[in-house]
Amino acid sequence: MTFMRTVLLAAVPLALAQVDPPGPPFPNSTYPNATDPLTDSGAMWNETSPPSYPSPWGTGLGDWADAYKSARAFVSQLTLTEKVNLTTGVGWEGEKCVGNNGAIPRLGFKALCMQDSPLGVRDTDFVSAFPAGVTIAATWDRALFYQRGFDMGSEHRDKGVDVQLGPVVGPLGRTPEGGRNWEGFAPDPVLSGIAVAQTVKGIQAAGVMACTKHYIGYEQEHFRQGAPPTSVTESISSNIDDVTMHELYLWPFADAVRAGTASIMCSYNQINNSYACQNSYTQNQLLKNELGFQGFIMSDWSGQHSGVSSALAGMDMTMPGDIGFDSGTSFWGANLTIAVLNGTVPQWRLDDMAVRIVAGWYYVDREANQVANAPTFSSWTLDTYNYQHFYASEDWTQVNYHVDVRDEHAADIRNFAAKGTVLLKNNGALPLSGNAKLTAVFGSDAAENQYGPNGCSDRGCDNGTLAMGWGSGTDNFPYLVTPLEAIKAEVLSHGKSIEDVIDDYAYAQQNALARRVTDVGGVCIVFANADSGEGYIIVDDNEGDRNNLTLWHNGDDLIRNVTSFCNNTIVVMHTVGPVLVDSFYDNENVTAIIWAGLPGQESGNSITDILYGKVNPGGKSVFTWGASRGEYGADVIYEPNNGVLAPQEDFAEGVFIDYRAFDKLGETPIYEFGFGLSYTTFSYSNLQIAAHAAPAYTPTTGDTPSAPTYGVVSNNTADYLFPADITRIPAYIYPYLNSTSLSASSGDPLYAINYTFPAGAYDGSPQPLLAAGSSVAPGGNQALYDVLFTVTATVTNTGSVEGDEVPQLYLNLGGPNDPKVVLRNFDRITIAPGASETFTADITRRDVSNWDTVAQDWIISSYTKTAYVGSSSRKLLLSAKLDLSGVSTSPSGPSSTTYSSSSSSAAGYSSSSSSAAGSSISSSSAAGSSSSAAGSSSSAAGSSSSAAGSSSSSTPTVTSSYGHSAHSGYGPPSYSSTSA
Ligand code: BGC
Repeated sequence: MTFMRTVLLAAVPLALAQVDPPGPPFPNSTYPNATDPLTDSGAMWNETSPPSYPSPWGTGLGDWADAYKSARAFVSQLTLTEKVNLTTGVGWEGEKCVGNNGAIPRLGFKALCMQDSPLGVRDTDFVSAFPAGVTIAATWDRALFYQRGFDMGSEHRDKGVDVQLGPVVGPLGRTPEGGRNWEGFAPDPVLSGIAVAQTVKGIQAAGVMACTKHYIGYEQEHFRQGAPPTSVTESISSNIDDVTMHELYLWPFADAVRAGTASIMCSYNQINNSYACQNSYTQNQLLKNELGFQGFIMSDWSGQHSGVSSALAGMDMTMPGDIGFDSGTSFWGANLTIAVLNGTVPQWRLDDMAVRIVAGWYYVDREANQVANAPTFSSWTLDTYNYQHFYASEDWTQVNYHVDVRDEHAADIRNFAAKGTVLLKNNGALPLSGNAKLTAVFGSDAAENQYGPNGCSDRGCDNGTLAMGWGSGTDNFPYLVTPLEAIKAEVLSHGKSIEDVIDDYAYAQQNALARRVTDVGGVCIVFANADSGEGYIIVDDNEGDRNNLTLWHNGDDLIRNVTSFCNNTIVVMHTVGPVLVDSFYDNENVTAIIWAGLPGQESGNSITDILYGKVNPGGKSVFTWGASRGEYGADVIYEPNNGVLAPQEDFAEGVFIDYRAFDKLGETPIYEFGFGLSYTTFSYSNLQIAAHAAPAYTPTTGDTPSAPTYGVVSNNTADYLFPADITRIPAYIYPYLNSTSLSASSGDPLYAINYTFPAGAYDGSPQPLLAAGSSVAPGGNQALYDVLFTVTATVTNTGSVEGDEVPQLYLNLGGPNDPKVVLRNFDRITIAPGASETFTADITRRDVSNWDTVAQDWIISSYTKTAYVGSSSRKLLLSAKLDLSGVSTSPSGPSSTTYSSSSSSAAGYSSSSSSAAGSSISSSSAAGSSSSAAGSSSSAAGSSSSAAGSSSSSTPTVTSSYGHSAHSGYGPPSYSSTSA
């Protein structure tokens, strides 16, 4: 019986009364061993999380071998309390970074500095403010993902940071309102996976450890830590079935692990009613065993809820170390020392924590990347002198060195944001020449925050132009170039006239200016935004998550007001995600629409580059713009739904979020995922698919070595007493005992109560490897990354200016529960006018696989699989079937998918007009053979009127030999599970 079982049993009566949530069906794929009959259909109310013990010990897989060798040698020298010091933070505001563990002065090993954020160095000065994750994602450019990571990592390094608390792939973006979606990349696992891998590599190439977060199922702010409201005592439970976990939420974490992320932050929420930081299934089984993660798991700040249990369940470092901020108490610290001495945490588990932490340090070569006076800043003040121990007000000294670490990053930032800008509509108004007689700029989003760019703590307000959301995922702007000042400079350089009204509600002044523009000839540029952030700050009644999908400050009214007088209105939106544009997108006076994302410090310059054609837009939307909020399917839970117990968030939509939901539900978005225009046009032709001979997939077998220990732990408790030569700092967390009696030292009245921890947690003998795991390298079974096919297509610039296009590769995996299409690859290509370039994209084994919950492994179903290449998720211009004859497939698809025809999800597609659909390629299983698919050239150039996506030309044909006939629309297929 696991430690979480009590919670489950207590909740059973409520579960009985609970009606299954409405919504589309999803794979019936609960976790093995999650055997509560009430929850056996997966992703359900009170779902359980199966136990998985022991916690896998790191073995130095793949390119971690050298780091492990060094780490083991180092850890072998450590005492018990020195090891504990590595694992435990010193408490909130105990040292200068947002998180600091303990040092090992005896060996000259400095305490590690963990510092936010995913877009820059938080809480200090003279740093760059980079574009947010959602904006860099919209570049769809691997090189820029990497460069941004490297630039950010360099700034962290030069400030003396050891661990950058980013990047983010959790939240993934299940719901468009999710408050922190913008910190991450996109609600698509493949785009997020590629972006996170490149970002991790960039950060770590700069000599800083990345911390990929938040693991896992952290998809909303409400109830992430119980309250608000205070009546809810436990954090929300994200109830996720096994297929959805693997095919959606775990996918980008696998890419981060494979890219070598040195650490991963476990999240605040529960997964299947077990807290993320003590969930043995997600940490031990999925992350450390299946994915072979070699680094360390760090708790989110106060995300730890137990001492021994979280250690046994795989957590390696607690942050900021104290239970409540500045409580002076800790689940670990001295309590971990005690737990090792009394045997409730085996020595090998503590040794594994220490080795993982130090291995991360070696893996990124922290040794060679130290700076003087590190960390050179204090998170708690910008003053030069203050307390070293801020909370305790002790040790007055120089805490800030004001080191300017920005280097030449401003030019990169300007470029990143321009490249991540998405042109959604253009009837010819753009690019601007600069010679308009009168340029009029409207909206507070064009201008300064009256309090200054950093005037609201953690950017917790929506005043002035929006260049990042709010919360811990922010940093201080070194300056913020507003759109108004950059546009003004551009207009003045042409000797023309510019006026503005930045008050969103000054309707009379807006009207007057808009009329004059139409009268004399000119252009109106309206700026509007929508903000969100982390739940500890409430802005305009939004508790982190957005309350709705509308523009803020009555942006719709502003646009309506301007467009009712101005016949050439360009709308620019700085938003954290999709907003509802239905009230204006097809207004003929709206001549262009731009999504400018969250661009960072160079905002005005980046948007001016796009508006005036210095940069030809090539960004593509990384989310779907629906016509109504309801079309997205999943939504945030805003009110408690389980009394005072943990709210239950059933991920009953399965893998169908964002574009997959729109496709499944038959909704037509206004602008689809992957869509974006250019000042030129492109056509696509000549799809070819080469099949490669890859070795057959072999499930991993064999055992791990037994759990190693490093050094000998003395059992003499007197060895661990608080040293006489150290002066205690109030509320600081130490690893030392107060007494030679463990019980007295714990100060815990419940010490030594008869509590049973899972027996398997203490088993340090060799453990069987998982079929989907690896004994070779992190990232899971390495055969998943074998390239089975290479797709090529010709993309031609059919316009008159150079431009970037992002050809996208989508797959339909053919099964009754598979989405219509899933993104699998992309590239951003610069093409000269009239020229053609070849788009090349690999398809790996993972790309064509499904998760089989019975086999507990990836399998390739024998359903017909179709590849599509196009310019968006709905402009699937070329297609061809994949020839699976050389690949060993599973005859009937995932063995766990037992569908009834009435409840399975739709897999039927219209067989109409896609030019290349249904053309089977003829390549056999021979290595490298390729043949041309029947893709005729078709134009990808979207004009504003076609922005909604020509779905009829993008629907694949399914002609299956597995018992379901091709049929139109999205109704239930006639599928028989026995006919395969
Ligand atoms: C956030 C993390 C952040 C940490 C430290 C938490 O509240 O969820 O993303 O890294 O604080 O600031």
